[in-house]
Amino acid sequence: MSTTWTQKHKPQTLAEIVGNNAAKDQFLTWLKSWNTGIPKLRAALLYGSPGVGKTVTIETAAKELNMEFVETNASDYRTADAIKKFAGLASQYATLFGKKRLILLDEVDGIAGKEDRGGVKELAKILKTTQSPIVLTANDAYNPRFTTIRKYCLVIAFKNPTIREGVTHLKRVCQKEGIDADEEALKFIVERSGRDVRSAVNDLQALAQGKTRLTKEDVEWLSGRDRKEEIFKVMQTIMYSKDGWEAKKAVSNSDVDPDMLFHWIYENTPYHLTDPHDLVRAMDSLALADIYRKRIRDTQYWSLLRYVIDFMSAGVTVSRQRSKSGGWIPFRFPGKIQMLSRTKGQRAFQTALGTKISKRCHIGATSSIKEVLPYLKIIFENNPEMAAGLSAWFDFDEEMIEYLAGGKRQTKKIVALLD
Ligand SMILES: Nc1ncnc2c1ncn2[C@@H]1O[C@H](COP(=O)(O)OP(=O)(O)O)[C@@H](O)[C@H]1O
Ligand SMILES: [Mg+2]
Repeated sequence: MSTTWTQKHKPQTLAEIVGNNAAKDQFLTWLKSWNTGIPKLRAALLYGSPGVGKTVTIETAAKELNMEFVETNASDYRTADAIKKFAGLASQYATLFGKKRLILLDEVDGIAGKEDRGGVKELAKILKTTQSPIVLTANDAYNPRFTTIRKYCLVIAFKNPTIREGVTHLKRVCQKEGIDADEEALKFIVERSGRDVRSAVNDLQALAQGKTRLTKEDVEWLSGRDRKEEIFKVMQTIMYSKDGWEAKKAVSNSDVDPDMLFHWIYENTPYHLTDPHDLVRAMDSLALADIYRKRIRDTQYWSLLRYVIDFMSAGVTVSRQRSKSGGWIPFRFPGKIQMLSRTKGQRAFQTALGTKISKRCHIGATSSIKEVLPYLKIIFENNPEMAAGLSAWFDFDEEMIEYLAGGKRQTKKIVALLD
């Protein structure tokens, strides 16, 4: 249940990795050249933004060429000992069974810190003499600290895939998940991710997991600038902080709408507080928050909002006592919010109607909707003559009349009387 879609739908062949065709070819050609002897450059440096497919390209290439794949993370190579171990790996031409070896040194951006001067020098020495291909990845290859390392590497740039390429990948994921997704919706997700495929797949999972259909309206929610990042940050703190006070602060310092946040927390809590005892405590707390929400709605005592915030933030945070927090679980977009965006058109229509009413009745548009609209509906449904008179007075158009009359037949009657 908690597998991420980036893992579950990771490309299995080089062909399934979208974008960067020239870079992939260049890399593969270099790797194959080891079959006929050691090439001049014994290392390759693949660089580019996060989430564009650098690591998965290397992994898949090793698999396709039937090589032994040794993956190491650069941050493990801070000590002389570790570097020696790494040197040992690199000093052999092949494994015992004759398989060639590919060594990955992933995410080297961190390795060239000030304290690592010695490490970088040591690494450069290994790159110069290695008997097996070594591949490094980095976000920024032109960091001056890499000058020495770069000399020994075939430097290959990875660009962010195009929108179309990103969509191709999302389509494949949707097909495997049995989701019928609109092209427009997928395009929107890729655009919003800044063409970072990993992040686009994460968003897709949050928006579409468990659904069979994904429309543009379902994803439009992403368009609010920084809203997603902001909400995810607050959610992360509420679900995983050890400190209730910190969670409360995260909510009050953000300008996420508390009502919307409530739905986010309510819908996501069961996936993050997996221990049943924790979940009961959290749900109790959310129930209390909900009671205060209702009281605010009924009485407009907004000073009660702080209790809502306490119960839904700190209350949930301190409920986590036994739940394990292993692995990354994506936050889901609450169904309620998706529903609100779907009825956005309807709400815009109501506002237009409210404006017409407020002009004549000299009250605000919101009050018009709340106080006048229900009576108008009763009149329009039952008394065509009066409805016609009111329509003329308010200057309603036919769409508005139909909305109030609630049926085509009644609408026709009213319109006929109007004429
Ligand atoms: N170009 C791509 N084509 C298909 N999937 C991709 C691509 N780039 C990233 N992904 C997905 O995102 C995950 C992370 O990609 P990764 O190769 O680790 O990115 P990077 O190393 O560039 O940060 C992959 O496992 C895969 O699911
Ligand atoms: Mg990577």
